Amino acid sequence: AHIAFDRSKLEPFVHDNELGEMQALVTAADAELRQGTGAGSDFRDWLTLPTDFDRDEFARIQAAAKKVQSDSEVLVVIGIGGSYLGAKMAVDFLNDTFFNYLPADKRQAPQVFFAGNSISPDYVHDLINLIGDRDFSVNVISKSGTTTEPSIAFRLFKEMLVKKYGEDGAKSRIYATTDKARGALKTEADAAGYETFVIPDGVGGRYSVLTAVGLLPIAASGADIDQLMKGAAAAQKDYTNPDLNENEAYQYAALRNILYRKGYTTELLENYEPRLQYFAEWWKQLTGESEGKDQKGIYPSSANFSTDLHSLGQYIQEGQRKLMETVITVDKPQHDVAVPTAEDDLDGLKYLEGKQMSFVNQKAYEGVVLAHTDGGVPNMSVHIPDQTPFTLGYLIYFFEVAIAISGYLNGINPFNQPGVEAYKTNMFALLGKPGFEKLSKELNDRL
Ligand code: PA5
Repeated sequence: AHIAFDRSKLEPFVHDNELGEMQALVTAADAELRQGTGAGSDFRDWLTLPTDFDRDEFARIQAAAKKVQSDSEVLVVIGIGGSYLGAKMAVDFLNDTFFNYLPADKRQAPQVFFAGNSISPDYVHDLINLIGDRDFSVNVISKSGTTTEPSIAFRLFKEMLVKKYGEDGAKSRIYATTDKARGALKTEADAAGYETFVIPDGVGGRYSVLTAVGLLPIAASGADIDQLMKGAAAAQKDYTNPDLNENEAYQYAALRNILYRKGYTTELLENYEPRLQYFAEWWKQLTGESEGKDQKGIYPSSANFSTDLHSLGQYIQEGQRKLMETVITVDKPQHDVAVPTAEDDLDGLKYLEGKQMSFVNQKAYEGVVLAHTDGGVPNMSVHIPDQTPFTLGYLIYFFEVAIAISGYLNGINPFNQPGVEAYKTNMFALLGKPGFEKLSKELNDRL
């Protein structure tokens, strides 16, 4: 496999026999997933997406990305949840840490900013202010086409484009990623003549990063989406065997369920590279929305190290013993930096002179794993060789397939999200949306 799953530090928490005991359940979960006998079977097309995708659309995505690079200083990507997190995660993972702050000549791509991922007026105001009178384009992404947050943001940025470029000019700067046939955004895109990209029916939001949802923003940022798909395709091939001795993604799925059943109900996804912060945000949606239902499921959380060792570290080491952790470690940073030599040793760092920071980071990781394990936190690690598009594609698929299996192991439908509607109904009623009058009265009486 291109990445390595390390469970060697689980010894105090999971007995030797336990993983094997899960094989029958894993085999059954694999059959539910692969044969479509499990709940939510209409949403499994991500399984074969890396090898079975629309090549013509892929070429159109690459052409659109080139156009945006040639005519825009800023790309505003509008979307929320599954229509946002994958692109944000990948743009951060693959590009320079300060990508958006680099001078244009060091970027060869537009700045990429996200909107429609909150309802904050200050956020939108500040983004409009930041764009100023510079050239920009918009990629609006919504599967349903009716989600409130992106719909409001799209109105705002569309209005800004029309004012700046006129109706026709605006049209050529709007890229709409949505359902192939249904929804308000599709209707509007067809009527207005925007270029459209498709979110396939059989791919849910949190599994959509390798569709146009993720691919257009990622390609516009200058990252190689061809390699991204190749990495995912390699993982698709590597993680098909249901045998737990062979399949590390399935091992991860089984072990986090073994631990969950022992009372480790929160899983922290951790990293030692700031560019992976949003990987955890993407993973939180993937796991939380897939598994948190029917009053059960592991609560997904995250921590960024070594930063959070100075804030959350105390709790992880000594707080309630319900935490397990999964660390993503990058074997080789793109750039390494040595600790400088100095005449004196006033800061006490002489023993590190000439050592690479990656070495220090690695020792921090090793020290933390042992300390947390000694403190009662089961640790699993996913070692990735680098932060290339190939590796990211591979890693995405690893977690996608693992979480689908994990959901079936816990006896839920990993592909629905009935709970996300509850707040929307209340919000619509409180906003006075037509059709919600009765609920509106009830809720206002309660407030
Ligand atoms: O996974 C989900 O269903 C949600 O997070 C959606 O992705 C999110 O609500 C955005 O939905 P849409 O793409 O329809 O605008």
